[in-house]
Amino acid sequence: MKLSGKTALVTGGAQGLGRAAAVAMAREGAALVVADLLGELAEQTAEELRADGAEALAVVADVGNPESVSKAFANTQKKFGRLDILVNNAGIAPNRLLMEQSLDEWEKVLRTNLTGTFLCTKAAVPMMEEVGGGAIINIASISGQRGATGRSAYGVSKAGIIQLTKIMAVEFADKNIRVNAIAPGPIQTAITDHSSGTVENYLSRIPMRSYGTPEAIGAAALFLASDDASYTTGHVLNVDGGFEAAGLMFPKEDLAAPAGT
Ligand SMILES: NC(=O)c1ccc[n+]([C@@H]2O[C@H](COP(=O)([O-])OP(=O)(O)OC[C@H]3O[C@@H](n4cnc5c(N)ncnc54)[C@H](O)[C@@H]3O)[C@@H](O)[C@H]2O)c1
Repeated sequence: MKLSGKTALVTGGAQGLGRAAAVAMAREGAALVVADLLGELAEQTAEELRADGAEALAVVADVGNPESVSKAFANTQKKFGRLDILVNNAGIAPNRLLMEQSLDEWEKVLRTNLTGTFLCTKAAVPMMEEVGGGAIINIASISGQRGATGRSAYGVSKAGIIQLTKIMAVEFADKNIRVNAIAPGPIQTAITDHSSGTVENYLSRIPMRSYGTPEAIGAAALFLASDDASYTTGHVLNVDGGFEAAGLMFPKEDLAAPAGT
């Protein structure tokens, strides 16, 4: 078991990618704190983890609210007495053209996605220092790396998370706290509201020609949380079927014939 004796807190862990990260880490022996705005769903996920043999606590938390964040980490300390792993995953993703985006919506996206990562990290680091180190995994996005329509606030929040990951990796290296990001490509969850046109558009740009799965993100989070990644920090791991790597993909019939034919 790669994480036995460790405690992990996953924000937005009630469903989707956060839930998959929680499941993957619980199966490797970690005790889990499922922190989410949606208390009932968080409790249901914690119950499923317990049924699978893990220790798990659900806490209602708003990552953009400093008091709520303090309470969630205090409850973690009270229940498990330690924190080793933080997954900054909670996020919202309204798709809107910049000229149609209100200041309120812009601020809400940045507050949840980026400020939430900042606040939870500040609460986690002293707890990790107490146990001699830890691992922080920030869930970014391909939208933090590539331009797109309707991704102004969201893309900026994710680009900010990528830069924050690098800065935190540098600042916390002497505390033995590793900080990495995962940049997922498209994955069907509650946050994805993709029309058939969007799906087709994505598939034409993803070399692997498919959407990802929450389990692929869970596996990446487990790797970054475990000692398998003991010398990995400040890294952005794209889990995107090759989307970020790809530019123009020539149809094979447009390519020159092999030399000599
Ligand atoms: N699904 C994708 O295609 C995709 C792609 C790239 C990145 N991501 C990122 O992955 C993360 C998880 O997304 P998902 O697809 O699992 O979405 P999801 O909607 O299924 O899950 C997100 C969870 O975060 C919670 N949450 C939202 N605001 C919160 C807050 N203020 N405080 C605490 N919890 C809050 C929600 O209640 C929800 O349970 C997000 O950061 C998202 O931007 C998702």
